[in-house]
Amino acid sequence: MTKPVNKAVFPMAGLGTRFLPVTRAIPKEMLPVVDKPLVQWAVEEAASAGIEKFIFVTAPGKEAIEAHFGPTPVLDHALEEKGKTGLCEGSRALTELGARITCVLQPEPLGLGHAVWCTREQVGDEPFAVLLPDDMILGKTPCLQQMMAAYGEVGGNVVAVENVPCKHTDRYGIVDPGNGTVSEETGALVPVKGLVEKPEPAKAPSTLSVIGRYILQPQVFEHLDRKTRGVDEEIQLTDALAKMVDTLPFHGLRFSGERFDCGDKIGYLKANMAFAHDRDALRGAVSALCRTFA
Ligand code: G1P
Repeated sequence: MTKPVNKAVFPMAGLGTRFLPVTRAIPKEMLPVVDKPLVQWAVEEAASAGIEKFIFVTAPGKEAIEAHFGPTPVLDHALEEKGKTGLCEGSRALTELGARITCVLQPEPLGLGHAVWCTREQVGDEPFAVLLPDDMILGKTPCLQQMMAAYGEVGGNVVAVENVPCKHTDRYGIVDPGNGTVSEETGALVPVKGLVEKPEPAKAPSTLSVIGRYILQPQVFEHLDRKTRGVDEEIQLTDALAKMVDTLPFHGLRFSGERFDCGDKIGYLKANMAFAHDRDALRGAVSALCRTFA
């Protein structure tokens, strides 16, 4: 029996420099994809996978993230008066999600591993999920839900993985699948024998990259406690995970769905097109719009 995963951590303390100047006053996680900010997509994905508590890691100046999930009685009342019941229900549903959020400040931008470490008291001694709102995945079943099903079978640590072009290994955490070959036939779950953060192509153990969805055991905090600096002098989550491959079951899940890197301008634009196209009401217009650029 695996321990249930009830909590999810959302690291969001980054500066968002790749989206300046829009991110001067607006947190990157508040950028919209169609009509919801990135953070809302991530929280809804977590909620649909059964997560009960959301732990936000933020930084000073990013108060808009929390405010998005706060109560809006004046707006709700106005929507009700105008008979806009759907919008009003949507607004109240957001406030209900908001009641399940705890915010933790990451005082300094010391890396993803440090951001996760900042939540050790809120997470406690239980398995938890990590979602990076920059990574959006469009598919029939939300990515974290697919991972929860896999976790129910194998336990331990489960990370979302996908193949990337060889020249891009230095952008990701890369998984070492050991001697096992990874192909369509080998199935969705890949045993993880090692991990390396952002290796140059010649040193990468594979092209299987970690995407921003993790299910982790609380022992990861013991490794993060050491505050070892890695790539870019940051405390890397990947380095802590690499220390866990011999002591716990550890798998990569080759999820089904298309992943969009919303930390990148083109990835972000593509996500907007793809998620709009996924809506019945917008599909026709989006297809027509795409043809105008062809
Ligand atoms: C982070 C992680 C990296 C992972 C990536 C997924 O990198 O450090 O291991 O592959 O997210 O998006 P970042 O994108 O913050 O540089």
